[in-house]
Amino acid sequence: MKVAVLGAAGGIGQALALLLKLDLPENSILSLYDLASVTPGVAKDLSHIPTSVKVDGFAGTDPTPAIEGADVVLICAGVARKPGMDRSDLFNINAGIIKNLVTKVAEVAPEACIGIITNPVNTTVAIAAEVLKAAGVYNKRKLFGITTLDVIRAEDFVARLKGLPAEHVRVNVIGGHSGTTILPILSQIQGVSFTEQEVIELTTRIQNAGTEVVEAKAGGGSATLSMARAASIFGVQLVQALLGKQGIIQNAYVDGDNPCSPFFTQPLLLGTKGIDRVLPFGELSPFEEEKKQEMLSILHADIQLGIDFVNKDRVSEAVK
Ligand code: LMR
Repeated sequence: MKVAVLGAAGGIGQALALLLKLDLPENSILSLYDLASVTPGVAKDLSHIPTSVKVDGFAGTDPTPAIEGADVVLICAGVARKPGMDRSDLFNINAGIIKNLVTKVAEVAPEACIGIITNPVNTTVAIAAEVLKAAGVYNKRKLFGITTLDVIRAEDFVARLKGLPAEHVRVNVIGGHSGTTILPILSQIQGVSFTEQEVIELTTRIQNAGTEVVEAKAGGGSATLSMARAASIFGVQLVQALLGKQGIIQNAYVDGDNPCSPFFTQPLLLGTKGIDRVLPFGELSPFEEEKKQEMLSILHADIQLGIDFVNKDRVSEAVK
């Protein structure tokens, strides 16, 4: 399997590359790309870690050599939030970055699974889908917004609150990846009960956890290490499923024919072709049902922004 990381020289990219070097199956190829000239050096640095994963690094304006032959492309290129910003404030810069990179993936590795980390994920995944559709290579089973960070945060926060080992807590987080569109389904957690107040506080904390990091970093960016861990969990599980391992379930933000929304985060059974089956997100408490209904107009607007971004560009390109 070849896994390409686009944006590999940044804070998320370097940590993600390290984790993939350690955790990808034997003899995988890890291909790093970034505009930054340090990228081949990052690859060289990683290559001295004795695992069978082979690492290559490419810098410059053309990601083609990094993407060629990739089975999985993970995209974390783009700018991060500063205090006071919302993820949607990143749209102006990151939308164009995603459009350009996914255009290249469509051209060079149209069969690859694509995992998007670049924010605002609610919108950048819709941009990627429109780009792939325009190129005639859209396969909804192979496009993912990586929302695993919401899951691992929720698991950590619940474990700490209830004094449980974090490895034993499983939380289903649905919706999207921004503010109130992040909805942890606390009512489904096995063997744990919460007061109403705990549910409200935990839900709010999980929804604002990204902002917690942005504020703590005080202008130095957003989550990089926990995001890298989350993306490596998702990426490695996806690779295992592509290789034929059965029973792998991960939540991600996908075009899953969900009547709620054109893109929605929910559990997925992964297989050799990407998504094998979109699984139901299960029963919700009245509180969760209300929060789900409340988020939908925000999610739909975020998605529409992405669709319009690509299609307006296409219309103006056609007029030129
Ligand atoms: C996160 O959840 O930490 C990331 O999406 C980064 C951010 O801007 O919050």
